[in-house]
Amino acid sequence: MAGKVLATLFFEPSTQTRLTFETAMLRMGGHVVSVTDAKTSSSAIKGEKLIDTGRMIDGYADLAVIRHMDEDSAKVLAEGARAPVINAGNGSGQHPTQALMDIYTIQKEKGRLNNLTVTLAGDLKNGRTVHSLSLLLGKYGPRFKFVSPEELRMPEEITQLLRADGIDVVETTNLTEAVAKSDVLYMTRIQRERFTDPAEYNRLKGTYVVDNELIQKSKHGITIMHPLPRVDEIAMEVDNYEGAAYFRQAANGVPIRMAVISLVTGLD
Ligand code: CP
Repeated sequence: MAGKVLATLFFEPSTQTRLTFETAMLRMGGHVVSVTDAKTSSSAIKGEKLIDTGRMIDGYADLAVIRHMDEDSAKVLAEGARAPVINAGNGSGQHPTQALMDIYTIQKEKGRLNNLTVTLAGDLKNGRTVHSLSLLLGKYGPRFKFVSPEELRMPEEITQLLRADGIDVVETTNLTEAVAKSDVLYMTRIQRERFTDPAEYNRLKGTYVVDNELIQKSKHGITIMHPLPRVDEIAMEVDNYEGAAYFRQAANGVPIRMAVISLVTGLD
C-alpha cells in the first residue's frame, strides 16, 4: 500500500472498526486521513452532501471507509466517488466487514463453518452486525436460534430470506434454552442510540446477561462472541472462560480488513 491513502469517515462513534481499518492500512505501508467526529472534523455540519464528499475524496484518497447513521450512506458516497467505498456500518442496516471477521473467528474457534447451531441474542432489530452475520453465515447451512425481546426481533425480511434458503430459524425469548443446544452464542448490546424513548431502552436493557451461571447451563465448549462494545450483557467474570472469544474476535478485524483493503484496491 506504499503511497496509497485510506480515508476513514466516521459519522457515528467507533473504537474497533476505525482502529482496525487504520491499523490494517498502516501495517501494509499505506497512509490514513480521517473524519472522526461529524460535528467537529467534517463539513457535514455545514450542510455538505455525502455525494459531494465522495467527489472530493477522489482528490485525496485511493479508497474510503464510511460509518454513518443513514442506511443509504455508503451507496450515496459511492455514487460520488470513483474510489472504492467500504461500508463500516450504515445505521441499523448492515456491517459487512464485521460479518467477515465474525465468520473468520468462528472458523478459527470451532474449526468449521458448517453443521453449527448458532444463537444470535440481544437487539436483533437494530443490531447491524447480526443482520450481516446471519445472511453470511446462512450460506453455510447453520441452525439458527434468534433470541430477543418481542420488541427487538430480527427483521422479517431477513428471517424470510434465510427460511427461503432452507435455513432452520427458531425465534424465542428464552436464552437459557437456546444456549443449551448451541455451539456459538453471539451476544449483542441493546442499541441505545436507536431508541426514541429512553424509558423503553431502560425497560429492555437488562433483559439478557451472560454470566458464569449461564455458561454452566450451556452446551459444553460453547464459544461466546460479541461485536463489542459490551455494556452489561456479558458479565466481566465470563472473560476468564476459555470459550470467551470476543477479544480474539476484535483482534481478527485487522487481518480481515487488510484482506478487504487489498481486494478492493486490486491487490491479492
Ligand atoms: N464492532 C464494532 O462495530 O465496534 P465499533 O462500534 O467500536 O467500531
